[in-house]
Amino acid sequence: MINITKSKKPIMLDIGCGKSKIVSTNYNVIGIDLWDNSDADLKISAFDLPFEDSMVNRIYSRHFFEHFNYNEIETLFSECFRVLKDGGEFEIITPHVSCISAFQDPTHISFFTKKTFSRFQHIGFEILKTEFHWFRKPYKGKFNRLVRILNYVINRYPNMERFSGIFGGIYEIKCLYRKNPNYINEKFIMGSKINE
Ligand SMILES: C[S@@+](CC[C@H](N)C(=O)[O-])C[C@H]1O[C@@H](n2cnc3c(N)ncnc32)[C@H](O)[C@@H]1O
Repeated sequence: MINITKSKKPIMLDIGCGKSKIVSTNYNVIGIDLWDNSDADLKISAFDLPFEDSMVNRIYSRHFFEHFNYNEIETLFSECFRVLKDGGEFEIITPHVSCISAFQDPTHISFFTKKTFSRFQHIGFEILKTEFHWFRKPYKGKFNRLVRILNYVINRYPNMERFSGIFGGIYEIKCLYRKNPNYINEKFIMGSKINE
């Protein structure tokens, strides 16, 4: 069990950080990844986080959850629920189902639309916001203005999500959840609800 109570800054976990752990001046970021060559501070599996209950202020995870099936995502979410403080935010970015790149990696086994994220709220998270990114954010190419317009339009008219494949597809989708303190901490292990 890691003791993080002495840290001066609030704690943010970057789950499945790979070689691009998020940089933050406001948080003490702890990267978690199984891969030896990653930027992780803890080379462990995210299924069993070595933190006491409600110790973490924020959780961030980019391009990680699409590698798991529904039951595994439920299990990972319940572990995130356990370690996150009440009211703590949980930010997830995944590839969007409309983009070819979501299917190019054969290790992707779950595919996400805006609605997919609402299917995990029973674990104790409420959705604060979802956001489409037409290209990788931050965009570093030459077509800044066009990307800004596309992002504005798709986020202003989210019902266009189903037609987005016609225009090359939305690259990724972000969901910002908040831990709802009114939920009891029920553990989900591979599809079964375990009452503690
Ligand atoms: C596609 S990479 C994403 C890396 C980074 N977040 C990014 O956006 O570029 C997914 C990462 O998840 C890690 N991973 C896979 N299964 C894991 C597990 N059970 N626990 C922790 N990390 C895991 C992999 O090692 C890999 O580095």
